[in-house]
Amino acid sequence: MPYADNPFLSRGLASTTLHPLGLEVSHAKGPWIHLSDGTRLFDAISGIGVTNFGHGNEAVKEHLQAQLDRHLHTMVYGEFLQEAQTQASALLRATLPDPLDAVYFLNSGAEAIDAALKLARRVTGRSRLMAVTGSYHGNTLGSLSVSANESRKAAYRPLLPEVEFLEWNDLADVARIDDSVACVLVETVQGDAGVRIPSQDWLQALRKACSKVGALLILDEIQCGMGRTGKPWAFQHFGIVPDVLCMGKALGGGMAMGGIAASKAHLGLFAHGPSLGHITTFGGHPMACSGAIGALESLGKLDFAHVERQNQRWQDALEGHPAVRTVRRLGAFIAVELEDAEAVQKAVEGGLNRSGGEGVLLFWFLSVPHAFRLAPPLTCTEEEMTVGLTLILRALDQAV
Ligand SMILES: Cc1ncc(COP(=O)(O)O)c(C=O)c1O
Repeated sequence: MPYADNPFLSRGLASTTLHPLGLEVSHAKGPWIHLSDGTRLFDAISGIGVTNFGHGNEAVKEHLQAQLDRHLHTMVYGEFLQEAQTQASALLRATLPDPLDAVYFLNSGAEAIDAALKLARRVTGRSRLMAVTGSYHGNTLGSLSVSANESRKAAYRPLLPEVEFLEWNDLADVARIDDSVACVLVETVQGDAGVRIPSQDWLQALRKACSKVGALLILDEIQCGMGRTGKPWAFQHFGIVPDVLCMGKALGGGMAMGGIAASKAHLGLFAHGPSLGHITTFGGHPMACSGAIGALESLGKLDFAHVERQNQRWQDALEGHPAVRTVRRLGAFIAVELEDAEAVQKAVEGGLNRSGGEGVLLFWFLSVPHAFRLAPPLTCTEEEMTVGLTLILRALDQAV
């Protein structure tokens, strides 16, 4: 499709893709996105890791409606005390171990990454930033600088200086972390690299090396957090605790939200030298925080044994399909590798085929052309997961 024919442009909206799905949404509930043509799509990717607790989640709606009647924006973040922020912080901190005893709410994942990088420089007084091969951390200049995919960066250089990449899951490379390093930033489970699950040894070695040289270990759980991997936070699988946790996506229950958790001592540095060290007008917006309250309440009620059983069932069935080469999965965070990019294209298009009135939304990775992602809502019933699986297998039949 030439850019000029893009259905967004004709509506006066810019578009960042030449190939938008361009489907028109009517409404959404549970795992279903209803389209204005009367068909529906099973959302097998949760809006890319956002609607972990289902579309139209009742707890999220209830808190949003109550907040709507109280107030919207009153003042830039950090001046007035607002109950929604206090409650969201309390619920969030109840899920986090020491030293993560304070949170700073922002507007997006990328903004959380930028905040974490700045905090690392402020805490250590050092400038060298380390990230990891295969990483995806967002699209602001800061978060792009620490993301690995060069094809997405070249057009925007020069980016941040003094950024280096450690080899993913490589124990020997950990030795490069020395006392000139401000931080090591890692997705606990890599998303865009195709759900790459690290070894416990490697993550623990990173933790140990950072502690030894006084660098901050920053974990990006923007996509893999909030229950996605079968525990509230992915780091809980690996016996480590980060110095800074970056959050986003599912955190706001569908509202735009990011945030970082760290110690009070570290986060307090944003208050002086200079003051307002990461000021944001809309960070901690009362509506976003109300969405987060609903999301965190839903997280607390998840039946993780059920989530594991249902997603194992998906994995078993997918592994039995002739189009599938490999399935990687932790909890409900899944990558399905096919023969090549063409097969993935056919599967995604097959999913969008709604000839019987319903289809399934599968989606590409930016950096792994021969695989597609699955991340179903964690609140799906067994019956919903069965319907979703049937639709995915039907889509895969197109890719054999
Ligand atoms: C692991 C990870 N980090 C950071 C981001 C950036 O978040 P946002 O798109 O909210 O800026 C994403 C978004 O996909 C992500 O998956």
